[in-house]
Amino acid sequence: MTDLTRRMIIVGNWKMFTDREDGPVLAAELVHLVDDLGLDIDLVVCPPFTGLHAVSEGLNGSCIALGGQNMHWSTEGAYTGEVSPRMLLTSGCRYVILGHSERRTYFGETNEMVNRKVRSALTAGLTPIMCIGETLAEREAGETEAVVATQVEEGVQGLDADGVEKMVLAYEPIWAIGTGQVATPAQANAVHHHIRHVLTGLFGRDTASILRIQYGGSVKPDNAAALFSESEIDGALVGGASLDASSFIAIARAVLGRS
Ligand code: 13P
Repeated sequence: MTDLTRRMIIVGNWKMFTDREDGPVLAAELVHLVDDLGLDIDLVVCPPFTGLHAVSEGLNGSCIALGGQNMHWSTEGAYTGEVSPRMLLTSGCRYVILGHSERRTYFGETNEMVNRKVRSALTAGLTPIMCIGETLAEREAGETEAVVATQVEEGVQGLDADGVEKMVLAYEPIWAIGTGQVATPAQANAVHHHIRHVLTGLFGRDTASILRIQYGGSVKPDNAAALFSESEIDGALVGGASLDASSFIAIARAVLGRS
């Protein structure tokens, strides 16, 4: 049954797209389109670091919040090329995507590193959106549940229930990211259910039922409503379709079809 206490959250991950010119244009289009939306949901966009300042100014006064796509766990230090939680906060961010599969695959992020980042984000007052998900080979080997369970267990290590309740999880099967191959609503819902089961074992039923779990991987306007009609799916982490303002807002509108 749908738990109506969980507020839906739709996040646009702009990845390494948009620059000083087109980032603010996209933000302005979103602000314009969101105006008459009247939806009681959380909407977030995560531009590249260099776009945070300008996009933050463009979003100012709107209901769309800002997030980073990654951060270091330290407050500050000699970490060339890295960005701290406080730098994100003072750039207007309230959220940060952590442990995206592209970070894990191309930049060697481990569950332990993701865990350090999650703890640091919570301490700083940022909402971490922790990404988890299996490869195609893992799914075909029947390892999906074990893989995501380990990612969850190691990712939330050392947190208390209060911290976990503030987090957002994004289940993003790697085989569905940028491929146009979306998990079926039933497939996604089953994994979300399993994730909640794992969290129940760790933190109890109440905490597990508060934390929001988004689905990510080829979410588009034409498949969003079916995904959102599943009881365990609390929103979406959107890549490609978030770069088009009308598509992103159409995905947000699909929440209306949720009963
Ligand atoms: P796509 O929506 O482009 O598949 O990307 C999903 C994703 O990686 C969001 O973080």
